Amino acid sequence: MKIMVINGPNLARLDIRDSSIYGDLNYAELQSLIESAAKSAGFIAEVRQSNDEATIIEWLHEAADAKTPVIINPAAFTHYSYAIRDAAELLSAPLIEVHLSNPMAREEFRHTSVISGVAHGTIAGFGPNSYVLAINALKALLG
Ligand code: DQA
Repeated sequence: MKIMVINGPNLARLDIRDSSIYGDLNYAELQSLIESAAKSAGFIAEVRQSNDEATIIEWLHEAADAKTPVIINPAAFTHYSYAIRDAAELLSAPLIEVHLSNPMAREEFRHTSVISGVAHGTIAGFGPNSYVLAINALKALLG
C-alpha cells in the first residue's frame, strides 16, 4: 500500500538547522530512513517536501482523492495554517502528524497545532525516529 509522507517548510535544510533540536540526519538521510522503515512495514512511501503552503494543500487533495494514508510534518505551518488543516480534514484514510522536536517543550508559539485536531494522532520529540514510530502506528491502524 502506498503512503504519502509530506514535509513542510525548511525541512529540506536539516543540514543547516540546529542538530541539537532536529537531530543529526540531513534531509536525504531522513528520506532514506522513512523509505526503508515504510518498506519494512510493507508500505511504499512517497516522501515529498515543500516550502509552499499551496503545494502541500494540493498534495493533501491528491491523497484525499486516492484515499492514501498520510504522515505529515507541517513544520511551521503546524502552528497557523488553517488552510492546511482544512485540506487535512478531507482525508478519509488515517493522518498522523509528526515532529522531529517536541514543540510543547519549545517556544510558546509552537505549543499550538491547528493540525492535531484533524489527525488520528501526533508523534513528536523522537527526532527522525518520530517518522518510524508513525509508520508503525499506521501499520497497526491499517492492520
Ligand atoms: C517541526 C517543529 C516546528 O515548530 C518547526 O517550525 C519545524 C519543525 C519539527 O519537526 O520539530 O520546522 O515541525
